[in-house]
Amino acid sequence: MLKYALIVLATTSVVLSQQSTWGQCGGIGWSGPTACASGSNCQVLNPYYSQCVPGAPAPSSTASAPAPSQTVPTGFLPRLGGVNTAGYDFSVATDGSFTGTGVTPPASQFPHFANEGANLFRIPFAWQLMTPTVGGTINSSFFSTYDQTVQAALNSGPNVYVIVDLHNYARWNGQIIAQGGPTNAQFASIWTQLAAKYGSNQRIIFGIMNEPHDIPSVSTWVDTVQQTVNAIRAAGATNYLLLPGSSWSSAQAFPTEAGPLLVKVTDPLGGTNKLIFDVHKYLDSDNSGTHPDCTTDNVSVLQTLVSFLQTNGNRQAILSETGGGNTASCEQLLGNELAYVKSAYPTLAGFSVWAAGAFDTTYVLTVTPNGNQDQPLWVDAVQPNLP
Ligand SMILES: *[C@@H]1O[C@H](CO)[C@@H](O)[C@H](O)[C@H]1NC(C)=O
Ligand SMILES: *[C@@H]1O[C@H](CO)[C@@H](O)[C@H](O)[C@H]1NC(C)=O
Repeated sequence: MLKYALIVLATTSVVLSQQSTWGQCGGIGWSGPTACASGSNCQVLNPYYSQCVPGAPAPSSTASAPAPSQTVPTGFLPRLGGVNTAGYDFSVATDGSFTGTGVTPPASQFPHFANEGANLFRIPFAWQLMTPTVGGTINSSFFSTYDQTVQAALNSGPNVYVIVDLHNYARWNGQIIAQGGPTNAQFASIWTQLAAKYGSNQRIIFGIMNEPHDIPSVSTWVDTVQQTVNAIRAAGATNYLLLPGSSWSSAQAFPTEAGPLLVKVTDPLGGTNKLIFDVHKYLDSDNSGTHPDCTTDNVSVLQTLVSFLQTNGNRQAILSETGGGNTASCEQLLGNELAYVKSAYPTLAGFSVWAAGAFDTTYVLTVTPNGNQDQPLWVDAVQPNLP
């Protein structure tokens, strides 16, 4: 859990500007405003991040700021924030079957969002599009289309990261990897091939598998993850890898379900800095990300996760899916959640919101811009919490 403390505000210099509520007001490397808008006060969340929190205790001249003793361990991911650009995953069913052709996300969205401060794009794809037969070779024609999207995202800024996201729910055509479905070797094969193509670019993060769910044996699944990590390293790639848990990559289930096993996965490179945990969290009534209204910010779920990660080897996780509708409830609650994610760096490396890309502007969780005009959720909840 984070320790809350008071901060001493500099009162001697002229205050040039005031930070808005929930905005950043201090931390290592921060050069922006340190005074908060009326009604909120600056609260130290960690050495890297202080935030204007409504109703927080007023700064007191007798309290002392904590010494910035913590540094980000070498090799950790930088603070990331951005969006899922969906399309190549369209019509992948949750049983891992696939009937479509994929839709190319508009390339213009990458510079659009990068200009606003986004530095993370997650680009999902169907396993069946990349390798039309299970365990077979990559379709070079599809790969070239997919890669144009990846390169457009990378080219939108010098510090932009891309998550290459295999969006198949741990399944191929209804059957679970190593639990009745494809063998571990067949699954490792697609990653061995992608490692050969993307292994030289450290800004490409490998999202090993989207949302495993209803997995009969979580420990068998974690063994599959270990073998995939080994295969990627054997192919020579040193990229950051996102390790998926169970229960739809649930952030809430992670500390008690897959987490205790996933923290034991080893990296043939040595160390664990490049093994990042992949978690999702939605804020609607049933946690599904299918309703326009949000009922919780679920910050307590993320605090529990952060505490687990800090006491289990000081590891990093990334919230690669969260989101809400363009409604007042989600603008408030998603904003709270993302402000917490930002404050919990480096344990939480960042977030990508679901979703833009080829989704149209009527999709219930859309953050696809209307022409050049951003959705209200993006403007009110996401943009203020970008890195
Ligand atoms: C390979 O990809 C191309 C372009 O996406 C597609 O037209 C073709 O049908 C794919 N081949 C197979 C065998 O699926
Ligand atoms: C998180 O939100 C979900 C959906 O509203 C709720 O079911 C769950 O109890 C919440 N968890 C916590 C710890 O608040």
